[in-house]
Amino acid sequence: MNLLVLHGPNLNLLGKREPEVYGSLTLEEINRSITDLATELGCQVTFYQSNSEGGLIDAIQGAGDSCDGILINPAAYTHTSIAIRDALSSVRLPFVEVHLSNIHSREKFRHISLMVPLAVGQICGFGRESYLLGLRALFSHIKSAT
Ligand code: DQA
Repeated sequence: MNLLVLHGPNLNLLGKREPEVYGSLTLEEINRSITDLATELGCQVTFYQSNSEGGLIDAIQGAGDSCDGILINPAAYTHTSIAIRDALSSVRLPFVEVHLSNIHSREKFRHISLMVPLAVGQICGFGRESYLLGLRALFSHIKSAT
């Protein structure tokens, strides 16, 4: 099973960026934990981070041919990007949306996700653990569907 892990804008700054909200781990440290869990589960993960909407859309379109599912933290694009939602809808791959912070306990504009109606589900509020729970959930979902 091949899974694409997508990180949206500003997540490259993790570790330095608002640590009281997003924690002190870097993106590299989070990716390392995801790789360790993927090895344990027996799946392959590919990582991509972009600060641009187009970069994320190109990665989603590319995954359509090569991946079985997507684990995505669309970051601020969660709340704004119809284009990323359309890309996810076009490739028809199962995806799980994750967030480090609990977007539902923050500003009102973060309560809306344009992607989540298409997602298998959403996990938020657990820091690095959101990604690990999301990976387990996506893996089980794909396993049970095949
Ligand atoms: C985030 C939450 C978003 O609202 C925010 O714009 C981010 C990170 C999270 O992981 O908690 O950049 O997706």
